[in-house]
Amino acid sequence: MFRLEGKVAIITGGASGIGEATARLFVQNGAKVIIADIQDELGHKVCQDIGPPEDIISYVHCDVTDENDVVGLVDAAISKHGKVDIIFANAGIPGAQNRKGIVGTDYADLKRVFETNVYGTFLCAKHAARVMIPAKKGSIVFTSSVASVTYGDVPHPYVASKCAVVGLTKNLCVELGKYGIRVNCVSPFGVATPMLMNGMGFNEKSKAEVFVSEIATLKGETVDANDVAEAVLFLGSNASKYLSGQNLVIDGGYSLTNVALGEAYKKWLSLDLPASRD
Ligand SMILES: NC(=O)c1ccc[n+]([C@@H]2O[C@H](COP(=O)([O-])OP(=O)(O)OC[C@H]3O[C@@H](n4cnc5c(N)ncnc54)[C@H](O)[C@@H]3O)[C@@H](O)[C@H]2O)c1
Repeated sequence: MFRLEGKVAIITGGASGIGEATARLFVQNGAKVIIADIQDELGHKVCQDIGPPEDIISYVHCDVTDENDVVGLVDAAISKHGKVDIIFANAGIPGAQNRKGIVGTDYADLKRVFETNVYGTFLCAKHAARVMIPAKKGSIVFTSSVASVTYGDVPHPYVASKCAVVGLTKNLCVELGKYGIRVNCVSPFGVATPMLMNGMGFNEKSKAEVFVSEIATLKGETVDANDVAEAVLFLGSNASKYLSGQNLVIDGGYSLTNVALGEAYKKWLSLDLPASRD
């Protein structure tokens, strides 16, 4: 039941969506959690909702693109709890939702997306490693995306940033393995969080869920933030003690689905075919 009993976890992007769901599940599983975000009011509200007491769940303002903030976050966890067992470096942004192709993509947008999704993730791993290396243990989990393994008409900066996160996962897995530190990432499919809803223009969660369910491969279930949180719980806990360097794709098989051939074949068969093709 309490799979994280005695563990201390930092969760970035913890004020909303996947990070918030993970913070709730971690606390339910016995962890002490520090959530970090730039949405301070929301972050405090989530803490009050999950807590009290302050000792179990607390909030730290941290813009992951600012190294001083990340240093402050990790140091706050050490002074409050004496250690960091798990960091879920999950904060991310989608960037501009234009579909103008590479020629129409701004360098400024690419830079902004990389600053949060790649540099921010890198900084969280760097400063978590600083305290995990002497402890000779730890679990680092990043959030990549299903866009790291399949095409989905998603803007280039976001896809490139999430592929970079997978690269970082693999490289760090090797560097940090000798200290007993595991490094993995999760790659969710479309989850109806504020990010997805704002990005795709849905004003109701249920509409976003219907849209995602319609394009999903796995029917009968609707993916939600808890499904990702459960995967992060597994990666943070000792249940995955020999798992490192993995990109755990949570997409119900969506990324394996390429309908192009089947659709083209159906169209081909519907044509007025010469007898030789029957
Ligand atoms: N929702 C999806 O469909 C989906 C799919 C694949 C991957 N992801 C990834 O999941 C992660 C979480 O996103 P979500 O869907 O829960 O969205 P969300 O918008 O609900 O949550 C993201 C959180 O990150 C925070 N954040 C943004 N920039 C930050 C910064 N510089 N420093 C600190 N915090 C910052 C936001 O304030 C927000 O609370 C992101 O990395 C996202 O790319 C989401």
